[in-house]
Amino acid sequence: MKNHTPIKIQSVTDFQKKKELKQKISMLTCYDSWSAQLLDSSSIDALLIGDSVAMVNHGHKTTIPATLNMMALHCQAVARSAPHQFLVGDLPFMSYRRSRFNAVKAAETLMRTGVHSVKLEGAAGNIELVKHLVESGIPVMGHLGLTPQALFQLGGFKVQGKTAEAAKLIKEQAHRLEDAGCFSIVLECVPSSVATEITQSLNIPTIGIGAGAETDGQILVLHDLLGLNQSFKPKFVRTFLNGAALINEAIEKYANEVSAKTFPISDESY
Ligand code: KIV
Repeated sequence: MKNHTPIKIQSVTDFQKKKELKQKISMLTCYDSWSAQLLDSSSIDALLIGDSVAMVNHGHKTTIPATLNMMALHCQAVARSAPHQFLVGDLPFMSYRRSRFNAVKAAETLMRTGVHSVKLEGAAGNIELVKHLVESGIPVMGHLGLTPQALFQLGGFKVQGKTAEAAKLIKEQAHRLEDAGCFSIVLECVPSSVATEITQSLNIPTIGIGAGAETDGQILVLHDLLGLNQSFKPKFVRTFLNGAALINEAIEKYANEVSAKTFPISDESY
């Protein structure tokens, strides 16, 4: 088989190319300027300014309190500081469900911050909107399986698609989103077998989180992989760094040096 150099995603067509070449797509969430600067020069393929920011950065228990203003501010910060990354802005709870006019306005608001695409959750009631946005030049990423904005409908943060009937429904929804023009679909917390079947049956790439190894790409919340979130450790998260312990150690060192009067020294003073 021909060896292809990994494609660095710059546009939605690169998502498609990567799927065709069987190159895995790596995505991370990113909410702010400092992490955007770090990720801008990384080999991560694309960044999601996810509405999980409401939980991770704002301390809410769910993503439901995320507002369009909150998302727009985070999208702006990331767009300013990660000019080389492909960015997906998450449409928050209800922002695309009130009316077509409001939904289009919400997508426009995020696009004007500098992101390159938007993401929305679910298929039912969204198909005509996806078609309209795509026809208007706005790339749309879908999101199926565990869709946290529907948390209270789903009965909690639970694995979805466990019965044959539920799996069939997710597969049908994925095909409807693909037909409507989505360039990619996030599959969150579904059994690997279901994610594999959907991935193999779609032309567009799937991005998994808690959906096994066979999706076309993976996404994680940056804070989870850095080990910064100590109160949340679902099965699908791998922590690649013991970030909280390292940060605590540095903070303790600083506090101790201040109280021991060993910080600052003359070289650190004017
Ligand atoms: O908001 C988010 O972080 C997400 C990912 C978990 C896919 O939607």
